[in-house]
Amino acid sequence: MAKENKKLIVGNWKMNLNMHEASLYLHKLSGLVKTHRTVDVVLAPTMLTLQSLSLQVNYRQFKLAAQDLYWRDHGAFTGEVSASQLRGVVQYAIVGHSERRHIFHESDKDTRNKVQAAIRNGISPILCIGETAAERAMNETIHVLHDQLVGGLANVTSEELNEITIAYEPVWAIGTGNNATSEDVRVVEKAIRSQIRHLYGKTAAETVRILYGGSVNKDNAADYLTIPGIDGFLIGGASLDATVFSDIIEKAHKAASAVMK
Ligand code: PGA
Repeated sequence: MAKENKKLIVGNWKMNLNMHEASLYLHKLSGLVKTHRTVDVVLAPTMLTLQSLSLQVNYRQFKLAAQDLYWRDHGAFTGEVSASQLRGVVQYAIVGHSERRHIFHESDKDTRNKVQAAIRNGISPILCIGETAAERAMNETIHVLHDQLVGGLANVTSEELNEITIAYEPVWAIGTGNNATSEDVRVVEKAIRSQIRHLYGKTAAETVRILYGGSVNKDNAADYLTIPGIDGFLIGGASLDATVFSDIIEKAHKAASAVMK
């Protein structure tokens, strides 16, 4: 469980909402979400809307994340946006999302380079890992997660690990409505912490922040929040509805404050 038992709730808007819609959404969400010491809320809009939202957002209420970045700082890389360009605009970046891995064929090496680039530029990476349905059917989940973790974290020092959040997102659960059971998540969260313990030692294993993502909604969120080692969510579809998203944030707040008491 992360330090201070603070929850982190990330809304990944993917390729949705144009600039106007994003601005209206943020306005609505700002009115619904109370600022809590117990929860960090992070919004990940498309690259196009990041800049304008960064001028509109109240940073005490929300932080911003890039959905991806390119690992070189500058140069001839048509269409890409670098971590050094995102510096100052975002506080977080999603790295190695399954859609990047599977649709755009990004490797563990790409992911690792992006983790490094984010850290080099003062941006906290949210490193996504997760098995496919086929890998799960073959009982390979723990091996796949291990390889993605080791691949993504190679060269990361234990000090840098403090900046990193790990998001467990089983590919088969993303956008399918077929969310993992809380027992699945509990088992995987333990496995990730034990892998981190082998790589970085006991303290790192206890404090690294682990999120769950994959068809999280307002009805299933509370269940995951009872798992002590789950520090929050990476939410796609349900984050596009401001009322639903704020409801999940409120649930995270309740769960975190219940533990603090
Ligand atoms: P979902 O997406 O909540 O729509 O399943 C999660 C994600 O891709 O981060």
